Amino acid sequence: MLTKSTIATKRKYNVLNVKSAKKVASFWLERAKLENAIGFGLPEVDDRYHIWRVPLVGKTSHERVGEVVIDAYTSLIVEDKSTNPEVLESRLLGRNSHKKTGVRKQNGTYVLSSLRNTIAQGDSEELLQELPAGSVNLIFTSPPYYNARPEYTDYVTYEEYLLKIRKIIQNAHRVLAEGCFFVMNISPVLVRRASRSEASRRIAVPFDMHKLFIEEGYDFIDDIIWEKPEGAGWATGRGRRFAADRNPLQYKPVPVTEYILVYRKHTDKLIDWNIRAHPDKEIVKASRVADDYDRTNIWKITPSHDQRHPAIFPVELAEKVIKYYSFKGDVVLDPFAGIGTVGKAAVKLNRRFVLLEQNPKYVSIIREEAKTWLGKEAKQIHTINCAPIDADNMLF
Ligand SMILES: C[S@@+](CC[C@H](N)C(=O)[O-])C[C@H]1O[C@@H](n2cnc3c(N)ncnc32)[C@H](O)[C@@H]1O
Repeated sequence: MLTKSTIATKRKYNVLNVKSAKKVASFWLERAKLENAIGFGLPEVDDRYHIWRVPLVGKTSHERVGEVVIDAYTSLIVEDKSTNPEVLESRLLGRNSHKKTGVRKQNGTYVLSSLRNTIAQGDSEELLQELPAGSVNLIFTSPPYYNARPEYTDYVTYEEYLLKIRKIIQNAHRVLAEGCFFVMNISPVLVRRASRSEASRRIAVPFDMHKLFIEEGYDFIDDIIWEKPEGAGWATGRGRRFAADRNPLQYKPVPVTEYILVYRKHTDKLIDWNIRAHPDKEIVKASRVADDYDRTNIWKITPSHDQRHPAIFPVELAEKVIKYYSFKGDVVLDPFAGIGTVGKAAVKLNRRFVLLEQNPKYVSIIREEAKTWLGKEAKQIHTINCAPIDADNMLF
């Protein structure tokens, strides 16, 4: 007879053994604040449905009160098959449950995400399909540049590039919770001339992105300008000709700004709803923004550079976006994670992160960096398409 671990290995599951299944379930119990009242029975793997069932047992009564179901491939909790925390609480107290709490149901009630910190390697268009609907509270990203450097682009035409970004914005819509924000750092792109007889071109990428967001079901909220200190854009060489000749019509300012475009997933509910419906008033209070907030839509921030990646954004920028557009404990997603700046800022501000990145080199850097952000807690990180979770042999 095959053991549970052998079945899991044979099927190439991400959750390989009983210990790993309990670890994943513990995280879920902690989020529901039930870890002191509930323990585990013996987890069973069910390879017809590719799931692990972890029985939940009351610590005082020693009776079974429910179960947590884990997707064996992704290691995500299957929410609609797991016992609702509200029901668990009622069973522990020995009463029937009809009470409505903030624990998440779709359509109108506020849902708390059970996603834990996640790092995934691959194409975010596909990876987004693996995340549960409504499980993310904020998206902040900076997409790959079109043709900024020939070695740094995978797109033959600009239309092909826009189509790829559209699909990602579209798939992100499903995973973003009701009325939550999608913030994108983007700027026009300079396509250098191929020869002296040709003109260089500037493509107004932010305005094309705007169209995609509106068509894919988001409402426009704000355009914030990220202003870099003078000198930051001189390397482009733009404006040199005019500086020498001063002929009208040839005027070309050096770009020292980028856009931070702010969208909200379309909903009939006011932003006020997202604040009032939050189930934990203490968290809402603790997330209030301090007095030194940015009064205008011009944010002055020095750019960051890192030898390991050609196009990172400064952690200060990610921190501003996260503190203005999410609550503590929320899940922040970056579908183009690079070396994980959004993850670093999220942890600093007590949020969870979901980082999707297709380049394995950058994923390794994120996994290494995550140890410094999270310390021992890095062991709890959920990984997709990286080495499997094995509690006996943690990679972090
Ligand atoms: C502008 S960089 C983001 C840098 C990031 N903000 C940081 O601070 O490290 C865009 C990243 O998207 C990644 N990327 C491009 N296409 C992707 C896709 N389809 N799925 C996932 N990642 C992708 C690239 O490898 C690159 O690292």
